[in-house]
Amino acid sequence: MNTEPIDLVSRRSLLRAGAGLLLTAALPPLPALAAGSDEYRIVAAPARARLAGSGHPETDVWAYDGTIPGSLVRLRQGEKARLVVENRLDQETTVHWHGIRLPNAMDGVPGLTQSPIEPGESFVYEFTPPDAGTFWYHPHANSLEQLGRGLAGAVIVAEREPVVADRDLLWFLADWRLTSEGGIASGFGNRMEAAMSGRVGNTVTLNGQVSEGEPVRAGERIRLRLVNGSLARIMALRFEGHTPLIVAIDGQPCDPHEPERERILLGPAMRIDVMLDMQGEPGRRYAVIDDFYDGLSYPVTQLAYDAGPPMRDHPLDTPLDLPRNPLPEPDISSAERHDLTLQGGMMGGGAMAGTDSMMGGGMMHGMMDMGGGPAWAINGMSMTGDGHAGMQPALTFQRGRSVILVLRNETAWWHPMHFHGHSLAVLSRNGMPVPHRQWQDTVLMAPKDVVEVAFVADNPGDWMLHCHVMDHQMTGLMTVLRVA
Ligand code: C2O
Ligand code: CU
Ligand code: CU
Repeated sequence: MNTEPIDLVSRRSLLRAGAGLLLTAALPPLPALAAGSDEYRIVAAPARARLAGSGHPETDVWAYDGTIPGSLVRLRQGEKARLVVENRLDQETTVHWHGIRLPNAMDGVPGLTQSPIEPGESFVYEFTPPDAGTFWYHPHANSLEQLGRGLAGAVIVAEREPVVADRDLLWFLADWRLTSEGGIASGFGNRMEAAMSGRVGNTVTLNGQVSEGEPVRAGERIRLRLVNGSLARIMALRFEGHTPLIVAIDGQPCDPHEPERERILLGPAMRIDVMLDMQGEPGRRYAVIDDFYDGLSYPVTQLAYDAGPPMRDHPLDTPLDLPRNPLPEPDISSAERHDLTLQGGMMGGGAMAGTDSMMGGGMMHGMMDMGGGPAWAINGMSMTGDGHAGMQPALTFQRGRSVILVLRNETAWWHPMHFHGHSLAVLSRNGMPVPHRQWQDTVLMAPKDVVEVAFVADNPGDWMLHCHVMDHQMTGLMTVLRVA
């Protein structure tokens, strides 16, 4: 295999600043970029992390480069990237570069696009990211446990021309199920959870730690990149006293708009970039609340204003739009149309798996075999696990064709449906056109939702389409689409 000695200084130390990751402002020049190739060496290995903050016990995790989240991978649009991944876990792994439109052989799906990386071995991922934006990376082998133990990091592909903001911040949000001793709770792959909302945890971290406050300054404009790196937790973020403008979804710029009902809905694996003009009062604190699950709202953090005077009297009036990425525009009139119907899971729905009301509520009317068989299906077919050899494509598209997929959620549960290797224009939801020219690689579907998406099948290969609630993927909510 590809085990070669490469000496690369992690650039993470240069990028760390404050509790957020400060990306553009005040960054020293990046000498490692001078060669015209974006190179990283990333090591997956056991590590320890203080997730709950100082004064709390450390947690045994699995991490990229020993940190939670893993090293921030910073690439440039249209520039070749080379990422050497070394496996120092005691089980096989792969890395999937979620949302990046890359060649199939670099997609990181075991069996389908590459052989898994065995313990002690390395694999070299090479691709040229066509799109600027916020992406992330995670394993696609034993995904439920490997992601659940901490293997995840963000990828930021920088625009060719910098976007005007005083600071460019990343909030990598992740959900953990911790025991009272601070360990990661066992029980990955619980069948009951898998047929309901998946493994939702009890501790949400922001850039690897429970956050009490993020320092901000009155008057500044922040580009904030939100990543939901959770196994199963859906978030709905409300910024008390502030009006964030959504400028990109899943890395793809959209028309800037305010979130519906002032909540930023962020399913597992989704990313949303917002522009935030800090119009609060110096010295005050404003909560950022996640209130997705009824009766279970909690503060993700607080915007902690510096006591100093505002940086400027009026918000910047420079444009908020991000430059669009070179996405192929599907031809709707000639597009072929296919239904993908999501089936299975327990009946009913409700707050959250594992809560007493659910467990005791007699919701044992599984539509599918609960004895260890699949819990979910797409068009009556269940592909389980993480990806393996011999998966037959459910649909095959001729290269270059425009395709409309009608995603029908016939289940009683939410599903963030993700497609590899392409970005999807979201056309309609429950018959209503979706505004703001939104493209997504992960489309969050409420129970019974019907969503139409379109794309040009321009990237040859076998591509996974699956729910990004990891337990759902593992137990059948997955399929393969081929572009030939
Ligand atoms: Cu981020 Cu196939 O997944
Ligand atoms: Cu993906
Ligand atoms: Cu799902």
